[in-house]
Amino acid sequence: MLKMQSLSKVYRTEMIETYALRDFNLEVRAGEFVAVTGPSGSGKTTFLTIAGLLESFTGGRYELDGVDVSHMNDDQRSRMRNEKIGFIFQAFNLIPDLNLLDNIEVPLRYRGMKTAERQRRAREALARVGLSARERHYPAELSGGQQQRVAIARALAGEPRLLLADEPTGNLDSSMARSVMELLEELHRDGATIVMVTHDPQLAARAQRNVHVIDGQVMDIAAQLHLDASPVHSTTLA
Ligand SMILES: Nc1ncnc2c1ncn2[C@@H]1O[C@H](COP(=O)(O)OP(=O)(O)O)[C@@H](O)[C@H]1O
Ligand SMILES: [Mg+2]
Repeated sequence: MLKMQSLSKVYRTEMIETYALRDFNLEVRAGEFVAVTGPSGSGKTTFLTIAGLLESFTGGRYELDGVDVSHMNDDQRSRMRNEKIGFIFQAFNLIPDLNLLDNIEVPLRYRGMKTAERQRRAREALARVGLSARERHYPAELSGGQQQRVAIARALAGEPRLLLADEPTGNLDSSMARSVMELLEELHRDGATIVMVTHDPQLAARAQRNVHVIDGQVMDIAAQLHLDASPVHSTTLA
């Protein structure tokens, strides 16, 4: 689904160069549920925005759904993003003046989808997250957990190949966080590929696989185990 090889991202300002990612290697297969953890500033959001084609990268190679995106122009990238990616952000990013159905329809408009089809998909997505009764409500009338469910519905309405979530429970109390996590787990059981950044170790533990990022690099668990099993370290393990 997603394959990054030796990816790098450098932010340049007049004064400094920041390597947000360096030699970043990661593969995510279709149908996986991966949690990405790591300290603040380690590059998690940078990784996710590049994965979702919201940002370009400086070096390396990125294949999304079998397509090398390195040489795509902005238009091609935004089209691919619109067709294949669903985003869920920490801050929900709903539009306050639009009711829930209209919020969910927004990204579908960019695809030039007909009104009837947009409405059908929006209703279906809202039902999927258990909020059908609230179609005409406005975001401010909902709890944080419900707002995040709407944001998930908005992502789902596009029928994305890949769901990317950046700290989706970061603004929620623990019971709301759990219910959002349960929804993501349910979507995963139904076949969704999910990559979720989280600082919550309990939520991360519920994903199929954890990827730890430090200083813009994936800490390879397998390689670490290999190192620990080497003769030099075996005595300390025993
Ligand atoms: N737009 C930007 N301009 C300059 N530096 C940035 C920008 N975005 C992120 N960075 C830097 O890149 C590094 C990684 O940031 P980020 O991906 O947001 O980390 P995380 O999500 O893990 O907290 C940080 O050092 C951050 O300051
Ligand atoms: Mg971040």
